[in-house]
Amino acid sequence: MLLIKNCKVLVGNDFLERNILVGDDGKIKRIAVAAELDSADEVLDAAGNFALPGLIDVHVHCREPGMTQKEDFLTASRAAAAGGVTTILDMPNSKPATTTVALLEEKRKLAAAKCLVNYGFHFGATAENIDEIKKAKNIASVKVYMGSSTGDLLVTQEDVLDNIFGSGKTITAHAESEEIIRANTDIFRNAEIKDVAEFHLMIRSNDAAEKEIARAAEIAKRNKARLHICHMSTKEEVAIIAAAKKENKILSCEATPHHLFLTVESAKELGNYAKVNPPLRRKEDAAALWDAISKGIIDCIATDHAPHTREEKEQDYWNAPSGMPGLQTMLPLLLDAVNKGILSLQQMVKLTAENPAALFRIRGKGKIAVGMDADITIVDMHKEKTIKNEDMLSKCGWTPFNGWKVKGAVAATLVNGAVVYSDGKIVNEKAKGKEVIFNGN
Ligand code: DOR
Ligand code: ZN
Ligand code: ZN
Repeated sequence: MLLIKNCKVLVGNDFLERNILVGDDGKIKRIAVAAELDSADEVLDAAGNFALPGLIDVHVHCREPGMTQKEDFLTASRAAAAGGVTTILDMPNSKPATTTVALLEEKRKLAAAKCLVNYGFHFGATAENIDEIKKAKNIASVKVYMGSSTGDLLVTQEDVLDNIFGSGKTITAHAESEEIIRANTDIFRNAEIKDVAEFHLMIRSNDAAEKEIARAAEIAKRNKARLHICHMSTKEEVAIIAAAKKENKILSCEATPHHLFLTVESAKELGNYAKVNPPLRRKEDAAALWDAISKGIIDCIATDHAPHTREEKEQDYWNAPSGMPGLQTMLPLLLDAVNKGILSLQQMVKLTAENPAALFRIRGKGKIAVGMDADITIVDMHKEKTIKNEDMLSKCGWTPFNGWKVKGAVAATLVNGAVVYSDGKIVNEKAKGKEVIFNGN
């Protein structure tokens, strides 16, 4: 048994001094004031820091199989553990894409052998795989690319979308209008590119997201589907989803750290490293996302961790792939925002653990409470650190936040009761994560 002593734990809506006893089954056995709980075989002194429920990142591209020059389950999960993320839900646009039950089983084996944090899988939708979708078991969702991105998953036909949304599975959607993106590409194909972030925003304009997100919400409504909208990035989407949520209680959405913390105005130096889908937007869009967070319109923060190698990013704009890593930097950035008073620590816990667990109906996770899995992230709110490329554990070895000074750091990460990351290092690669169980799908 492990005793985590001297930490602050969320009890109701307050952080209170507590000790946490973790059983040998990796679950939380007791939470009590110090005097009641002061001995165990092993003691971890949290030194007065906060013990938060481990973060659940519902949007991660682990790149296995087939793209392991960018990342694999081991390197992605190291980055996750270093970033206080104890559960990752992997996206299906690997090579091959996860669009059949057999391919899902292969992916399960790859993750089981390597992944240091807990994991689950989104299943890919194509125009032809509705039977596979219906057969797939224990999946986070069916991911629908309504707008092309990395990989070749794309579904745009209305009747096919109706079938997929009507499958009874949770749907997650990348919603950007392929029609508008293609029209913009035709217009600007030969234009001179001075600023990648600005140019990418011209190609994947706000109206492309606005149009497709409205379509997704409409299709979900008529098929009574649980729909989760990925990476909200514009003020227009916020308005649409705020209105749609009033009529559809099972509609949810996420925002990424890069759309919250970076804008075309601030990312001028990044070149293709700022190329991401949906693109970075303007200041007023980021402000609308923060406002939507404060109003509870945005349900969770997810990284869309999408690593690419430097070589791939160093190609010309048209050939450089879209996407950026985020697993290791999400929590430090959010803790810094908490320290600056932009959101409360309680809100952050809701957005990164409680809500993701509830929305995707993940068993035993999202809270520090008796009987829950001991996925615990200990954070030091006072520690100041500079985010550096060379400290990144993702295989890609870079971050768009290189050089950012942040206050608030991960002190230790426990996965199913085992300390995986502590004091700046991965300390245990033996205790593997487990596949999560979805109560639904
Ligand atoms: O920028 C992106 N990169 N957006 C996506 O939708 C996919 C992702 C990737 O897999 O690289
Ligand atoms: Zn996407
Ligand atoms: Zn993605």
